[in-house]
Amino acid sequence: MIVAVDGPTASGKGTIAKALAEHYGLPFLDTGLLYRAVGFQLRQNGGNPDAPDDALEACEFSDEILENPALRDEAIGGLASRVSVHPEVRAALNKRQVDFAHQPGGALLDGRDIGTVIAPDADVKLFITASADVRAERRFREMKSRQVDVEFEAILADIQARDARDSGRSTAPLKPAVDAIEIDTSNMSVQTAIKSAIHAVDSKIAARRV
Ligand code: DC
Repeated sequence: MIVAVDGPTASGKGTIAKALAEHYGLPFLDTGLLYRAVGFQLRQNGGNPDAPDDALEACEFSDEILENPALRDEAIGGLASRVSVHPEVRAALNKRQVDFAHQPGGALLDGRDIGTVIAPDADVKLFITASADVRAERRFREMKSRQVDVEFEAILADIQARDARDSGRSTAPLKPAVDAIEIDTSNMSVQTAIKSAIHAVDSKIAARRV
C-alpha cells in the first residue's frame, strides 16, 4: 500500500505520517528532509537559493547530511522552501522519491506533492491542514520549549510566506490531490488527529475492497 501525506508546514503532517507508518508497518520517507538537505548544502556552498544553477549544484549532497539535526532549523526550512521552487531541483530529487514510493510492499511519504506528482497512484492520499494561527502557535510553543528566543508575529509571518511560496510556485505546488481526504487538525489533539488519520486510511482501504 502506498500512502501519501501532504500538507503545509506545522499542520501536524509529520507527526501523523510517522504514526501511520508505524501503525501500518510501512517504510517512511520525510521528503521535506531532502529539500532541507539541498538548502543546507547550498548554504555550505555559499550559493544563492534563488539562482537555479546554485540550487541544482546543491542537490549533490552526501546522505550523511540527512542525519544532521541542523536540518530542522527554521532557517534551513526557509531555504528549503526557496530552492524547492526550481523545477531543476524538483527533477533532481524526483527519482529517489518515486523509487521509494514504489518499492515492493509499499511505503508512506510525507511532503507537498506526494499525492499529485510523486505517487498519483497512491492507495490513500491525506491532506493535513490547520489554520495559519494554530500552526504558528504550535511552532511558537515548540520553539519556546527549546529555549529559542522568538516572537509569535515573526513565526506567523514566516509561515504565511512559506505557504504563499509553496502553494504559489508553478511546478508541483502545494495543493490537495482531487482524491485526497482532508483532515483539519486545528481543533484536534495529537492523539485525535492520529486516530482520525488511521480511520481515514482504514475507510479508504475498506471502500476499495467493496
Ligand atoms: O516539510 P518541510 O517543512 O520539512 O519542508 C521544507 C520545504 O521543502 C517546504 O517549505 C517546501 C519543500 N518541500 C517541497 O517542495 N516538496 C516536498 N515534497 C517536501 C518539501
